[in-house]
Amino acid sequence: MNKKILDYTLKVRFPITIFVIIATFAITYYVSRPERDGIGYEPDQPIKFSHRLHAGVMGIDCKYCHTEVTKSRHAGIPSVSTCINCHSVARRDREEIVKLFYYYETNTPIPWKRIHKVPDYTYFNHSVHVNSGIECVSCHGHVERMDVVSQIESFTMGSCLDCHREPHLKVPQFTENAKKGPVNCFACHR
Ligand code: HEC
Ligand code: HEC
Ligand code: HEC
Ligand code: HEC
Ligand code: HEC
Repeated sequence: MNKKILDYTLKVRFPITIFVIIATFAITYYVSRPERDGIGYEPDQPIKFSHRLHAGVMGIDCKYCHTEVTKSRHAGIPSVSTCINCHSVARRDREEIVKLFYYYETNTPIPWKRIHKVPDYTYFNHSVHVNSGIECVSCHGHVERMDVVSQIESFTMGSCLDCHREPHLKVPQFTENAKKGPVNCFACHR
């Protein structure tokens, strides 16, 4: 390379390249932020099950299906037999219910896609939160109005800590002296 070309490369090309790299990174970072936090994640499910219809219109209690939510870490997703309790009679002829029976008769778990998830190195326990009086809506929004469940709150470390420091700002029925959540690292990273 002769000196002129080298000069041009160093003074012009190099800074432009660096600028483009940084700009691309910055834009991608901000634009993909909600997606990385999981907000709006709403995958297609194997059966068109509607919370609006079951939990909203019919008013079935969340705990009828999410039976573990007051007892363990996980809320639990109901097995096909919970659905069959009603669908052995209700809407037997519908396409989606025919699919439901296929899973039931072949003894195959329905491959529901998971929506809300914290990383494996983080400890989260439903029962502690639900039993302390925090309702599903504070973390999951109005699921009983959703045909397709979608994540509406981010579950980043920042959002967990925001509520742990000042739960009364996130949980309408709490007062300022309500019990706070832990903020020491080992509570959530054990
Ligand atoms: C008739 C049973 C039934 C009832 C009642 C019900 N659910 Fe569900 N729920 C399911 C099934 C099945 C799934 C998995 C499929 C899906 O995501 O729609 C699910 C998924 C969810 C998810 C997403 C899980 C994930 O993968 O992150 C949330 C949150 C949820 N339910 C909250 C609620 C709340 C809150 C209520 C009460 C207002 C409720 N559910 C009532 C059956 C039920
Ligand atoms: C407490 C009884 C009950 C339970 C439990 C229940 N369902 Fe239903 N479901 C109904 C009734 C009743 C309807 C019809 C409502 C209507 O059309 O107004 C219905 C409608 C549906 C439909 C729409 C059918 C159509 O195309 O019209 C689907 C899909 C469905 N249920 C799936 C499920 C799945 C999956 C589960 C288990 C996670 C489940 N249901 C649990 C009572 C129940
Ligand atoms: C304090 C916030 C909070 C509250 C309150 C809460 N959830 Fe959750 N929920 C979460 C988080 C965080 C996850 C992801 C957990 C994980 O990855 O282990 C989750 C996941 C879920 C899941 C899918 C996976 C699982 O754990 O089985 C279901 C279903 C669910 N929640 C239902 C409910 C229902 C029903 C209620 C109310 C009775 C409720 N949640 C109350 C934060 C909450
Ligand atoms: C809406 C408010 C709220 C949100 C959001 C919330 N928490 Fe909590 N959390 C609390 C409160 C209040 C307590 C204290 C409950 C008690 O001890 O009765 C608590 C307690 C805990 C505890 C200690 C009890 C135990 O299970 O050992 C852990 C760990 C925890 N939260 C983890 C998390 C994580 C991880 C997240 C985010 C994914 C989160 N929390 C989001 C309000 C919240
Ligand atoms: C209330 C629960 C909670 C507490 C307390 C907490 N964390 Fe976290 N932490 C989380 C959650 C949830 C995630 C995963 C979501 C995310 O990346 O924001 C996380 C992620 C992380 C990560 C990975 C970050 C990344 O970008 O990949 C590190 C490192 C971390 N925490 C360190 C700490 C340290 C150090 C402390 C103590 C000062 C602490 N955490 C306290 C909930 C908590």
